[in-house]
Amino acid sequence: MTSPGDKAANDDIGGLMARVGNIEHGMVDESAWIEVIQRMDTIYADIVRYQVELEEKNAGLEDAHRFIQSVISSMTDVLIVADTRGRIQQVNRALEELTGRTASDLTGVALGTLFTEEYAEQVEDFAEHIRTDVITDCEVELRGPDGEGAPIAINCTPRFDHDGRLSGLVITGRPLGELRRAYQDLRETHDQLKTAQQQLVQSEKMASLGQLVAGVAHELNNPISFVFGNMHALKRYEKRLAEYLGAIHRSASDKEREQLRSDLKIDRLLQDIGPLIDGSLEGAERVGEIVEDLRRFSTPNQQQCSRFDLSRVINTAAEWVIKARRERPEVVIDIPPSLELYGYEGYVHQILVNLIQNAADAIEDYKDGRIAIRAGTQNSTVTVEVSDNGTGIAPDQLLRVFDPFFTTKPVGKGTGLGLYISYSLATDQCQGKLEGANRDEGGAVFTLTVPLELSE
Ligand SMILES: Nc1ncnc2c1ncn2[C@@H]1O[C@H](COP(=O)(O)OP(=O)(O)O)[C@@H](O)[C@H]1O
Ligand SMILES: [Mg+2]
Repeated sequence: MTSPGDKAANDDIGGLMARVGNIEHGMVDESAWIEVIQRMDTIYADIVRYQVELEEKNAGLEDAHRFIQSVISSMTDVLIVADTRGRIQQVNRALEELTGRTASDLTGVALGTLFTEEYAEQVEDFAEHIRTDVITDCEVELRGPDGEGAPIAINCTPRFDHDGRLSGLVITGRPLGELRRAYQDLRETHDQLKTAQQQLVQSEKMASLGQLVAGVAHELNNPISFVFGNMHALKRYEKRLAEYLGAIHRSASDKEREQLRSDLKIDRLLQDIGPLIDGSLEGAERVGEIVEDLRRFSTPNQQQCSRFDLSRVINTAAEWVIKARRERPEVVIDIPPSLELYGYEGYVHQILVNLIQNAADAIEDYKDGRIAIRAGTQNSTVTVEVSDNGTGIAPDQLLRVFDPFFTTKPVGKGTGLGLYISYSLATDQCQGKLEGANRDEGGAVFTLTVPLELSE
C-alpha cells in the first residue's frame, strides 16, 4: 500500500542516497548524513502513524464483523448463503441446531443435501431459478439430525457483489412447527367456540320452546276436549241406536217402533251424527297440525337446505308467538301469498320467532300495541321486516342489542341470547344480514335479509 506521501519520501531518499554515494566516493558532506538521519526519523514516524491507523481500522472491522455475527447467530430464522453453483458458503446457528450439522461441515457442500430427498432437487434448482425470480414462502423440509424432515417455509433472494453481478443466493426460512402449533391451537379454540355457540343456540331454542309449551298445551286442549265431547255424545247415541235396532230385529209392531223412534229421538240423532263425526275429524286434524308445527320448531340443529315457502314460515312463526302469550298481541301481516326460498327453513323460523317475540315484549304495556310484518323481494334477496310501535331501543343500546346476554328484561324473562343467536344464524348460516333500528314514529324495526337461493 502506497500513498502520495510515500512517493515523495521515496524521491527524497533517492536524492539523499545519491549524495551519500558521493561520500563513499570520498566527497565528504556531513550535512548529507544529518539529513539522511532526519529523513529516516520522519519516515519512521510515518510508518508508526500508518500502523496505528491500520490497527484502528482493523479493530473497527472486527467490531462490525462481531456485530453481524451476533445478529446472525441470534436469529431464530434459518439463514443459508450459497454461491451461484449452489454450494453453501455460510449458515447460521438456527440452521445448525435444526440439522445437527456444524457450519464448518457444511461449507462448500451442495445446498440440496440440507433438505430431505423429496425437496433436494427443488432447492438445487433455486440457483438457476433465482436469476429470473425470487422465491417466497416455499414450504420444504430440512433434513433433521435423525433424518426426519423438519418443515420450514423459505424465501430465496439473489445476492450481488459490489459490481452488481450475481454472486449467489440467500435463503431465509422459518420453522413451521411453531406456526403449525399456533394454528392448531387457534383451530381448537375456534372449534370450542363453535360448540359453545351451538349449545347456546340449542339452549335458547329450549327456552323458547318452554315458553311455547304452555301455549301449545292450551291450544291442544281445545280440539281435544271438542273431540271428547263429540265422542261422549256418539257413545250415548250408540245406546239409543242399539235399542231401536233391537226392536226392529225382533220385529216389533209398527206402533211400538214408531213410539221408540220418537222417544229415542232417532231422527235428530241421525241428523247429528254427521256433524259430530266431521267436528271430531276437524279436531283431530288440528291436533295433527299443532304437533307438526311443534316438530318443525324443535328439530335439532343439523338443518338441511330445502325449498320452502317463506310466507308459510312467517305465518306459523307469528301464530306460535301469538298463541304462546296470555294477552294476544295484534299482528298485521302484509306478505305475498307465497314466497319460495331455498335455504334453512328451521333457522329462518327461529330468527322470525325471536324477532316477533321481542316485538310482542316491546308492546306488552301499550294499549294500541301492534306488530307489523312485511316481506318482499329485491333482485336476488328477500327482506322481512318486523316492526312494532312499542318501547323502541335506547340510542346507546342500539349497538348492544346483538351482544350475547344483553337484555333489558327481568330475570327469568329475558336471556339476552335471542338477537345474538338470530344474528349469527342470519349471517353465518343463512348468508344474509339482520339489522335493527328505531322507527321515527316510535317503536323498533328489525330487518332480516336473506338470499332467495342459498349457495351451498
Ligand atoms: N322490538 C324491540 N323493541 C325494543 N327493544 C328491543 C326489541 N328487540 C330487542 N330489543 C332489546 O334487545 C334486547 C336483547 O334482545 P334479545 O337478544 O332477544 O334478548 P331478550 O329478548 O332475552 O332480552 C332486549 O332485552 C331489548 O332490550
Ligand atoms: Mg328476545
